[in-house]
Amino acid sequence: MRIGLLTGGGDCPGLNAVIRGVTRRAIDTYKYDVLGIKNGWQGLVNGEVEPLSVYAVSGILHRGGTILGTSRTNPMKKPDDMLKLKNNLKKYSIDALIAVGGEDTLSVALHLHREGIKVVGVPKTIDNDIMGTDFTFGFNTAVSIVTEAIDRLHTTAESHHRIMVVEAMGRESGWIAVMSGIAGGADAILIPEVPFDYDELCTKLKKRHQHKSFSIVVIAEGATPKGGQQITQSDRKDAFGHVILGGVGRVIADEIEARTGIETRLTVLGHIQRGGSPTAYDRILATRFGVKAVDALHNGEFGKMVALRSEDIITINLEEAVLKNKKVDMGLYEIAAVFF
Ligand code: F6P
Repeated sequence: MRIGLLTGGGDCPGLNAVIRGVTRRAIDTYKYDVLGIKNGWQGLVNGEVEPLSVYAVSGILHRGGTILGTSRTNPMKKPDDMLKLKNNLKKYSIDALIAVGGEDTLSVALHLHREGIKVVGVPKTIDNDIMGTDFTFGFNTAVSIVTEAIDRLHTTAESHHRIMVVEAMGRESGWIAVMSGIAGGADAILIPEVPFDYDELCTKLKKRHQHKSFSIVVIAEGATPKGGQQITQSDRKDAFGHVILGGVGRVIADEIEARTGIETRLTVLGHIQRGGSPTAYDRILATRFGVKAVDALHNGEFGKMVALRSEDIITINLEEAVLKNKKVDMGLYEIAAVFF
């Protein structure tokens, strides 16, 4: 069998561990060929491929990013692109595909499965917003990065008696904000799942400052005030129709300072949350996903996505994974809120 492997969507720590896991399992265990497809679906449309060998994936386990490159290309937008993609599958004798990506990449994988192409998906995103899997790889690294940032902000906030606002990624879900907020001891966490009220937030902060001289407020980029609109960078949308988030932190930090009279500073972590080495947890999860994805193809489990369920790696239908976004576990939010 010749497996085509691609990484799509935003990059994410652990992608190289998946690439290594897939390649080693395919070549060493099953004697299959692996063809790396460059830059996500774009590479399959344009015919940009390169064979992956054991040598090619050596030394990449700990490296961030993806050696294959990635893009947010949506081949379903143009029938011509879909035609080119299918022709390239034939041209390069690709028998089956492993698509590593988030909801967008996996929705293309599902479309191809429905068209009779053999495909298995691997859930990737720092946002942890894919249904059917307890965790996506990359999320643990992002939470660790944000937690370290919060730790560092604590000491400067304390010294200057300020409110420090930290804007975290996560799109429509508050997973990164809640988990790093718990780990970092945030005094308030604003997430898309729970629209916030400025009066309530500022009253709490003022009350806290009667006995404490600093506060840490973690804001998910998709957080929205009650009855208000989501704040976006611009009206621009990506190929899958998502607005580009980021910028909400500035608006909220200014409003907090105006309402409380307490000096407030903003830190936007942005793509730092996605860059650099994956944590040990993500390297292990990504490796398990990669190996299991090849096993799934070998066993004829097409149209599936590998997923973490408790301690096990299982396979689920791609339909289940892309049905809707996975929202944050409200039990965890309630634990975080004990400390607000
Ligand atoms: O989905 C991952 C993510 O990092 C989101 O948290 C964020 O909103 C988005 O990607 C940023 O996209 P881009 O890398 O295209 O700016």
